[in-house]
Amino acid sequence: MKILNFGSLNLDLVYQMPHFVRAGETLSSTSFTRSVGGKGLNQSVALAKAGAQVYHAGLVGEDGEMLRSFLQENGVDVRFVRTVDAPSGHAVIQVEPAGNNCIFLYGGANQCVTEAFIREALEPFEAGDFLILQNEINDIGRIIELAADRGMQVVLNPSPIADNLKSLPLERISWFILNEIEGAELSGRSDAGDVLEGLTALYPHARIVLTLGSEGSVYAGEGRRVHQSAYRVKAVDTTAAGDTFTGFFFAAMAEGAPVEEALRRASKASAISVTRPGAAASIPTLDEVLEALK
Ligand code: RIB
Repeated sequence: MKILNFGSLNLDLVYQMPHFVRAGETLSSTSFTRSVGGKGLNQSVALAKAGAQVYHAGLVGEDGEMLRSFLQENGVDVRFVRTVDAPSGHAVIQVEPAGNNCIFLYGGANQCVTEAFIREALEPFEAGDFLILQNEINDIGRIIELAADRGMQVVLNPSPIADNLKSLPLERISWFILNEIEGAELSGRSDAGDVLEGLTALYPHARIVLTLGSEGSVYAGEGRRVHQSAYRVKAVDTTAAGDTFTGFFFAAMAEGAPVEEALRRASKASAISVTRPGAAASIPTLDEVLEALK
């Protein structure tokens, strides 16, 4: 079973801050790092580090060679990472002492996806293969339609949450993997406890993986629910924790592991990632995760 991740690649400009900048405030950062990220890239790296065979489709500018090489060095197939005439996407990330972040994005090349590119990238994939999407590239609706037409299992991680999501053909999604805030937005339910009910009612054929922060995560699908507790750690940087979770979860599913095992590995991997600085650079290997689970 092959996995295609059609998603963003960003240059991450990461600033360590005493606190998040407030309106009208000018504040010095205590450190600065330039690294690779993007929800798409991070998830592809997590999938590959978790042992999956993963193809990444996405777009960079002439300034994006380090993004392509980072994927390749981590074992991701980059034949569908193309260079276009636009600057690569980038993210400006503030990290405060407790490890929380706030991010703003410039889409750049990530917003240059065309129908011709979508068709070309989907061509080698067939029924049953996974197609993983986040919400940092354009034309997601078209990608969903064309991948679902091929019988692929379409996975949507609706992150970052934005107005475009509700106009997507969400009834064609096979899997949602999302956090409470995204879940509340898509389900229209404000109470965290109701989110899963709401999503299941709206999308009865989809399987859902809902992450609940310190409350762990829960899977709902095939008429059953599975809960996984969170592993407690001291966070230094939470960037890419969700991406790590997604990558490890779907690598395990593609390998045929039970949902319980996929949740266990995903939770442990994301717990390890928050103890390290950076986005893609913080993602552990499968060996590290399995060792930590012993
Ligand atoms: O999920 C973390 C990612 O969000 C960062 O790497 C940044 O690029 C933004 O896309």
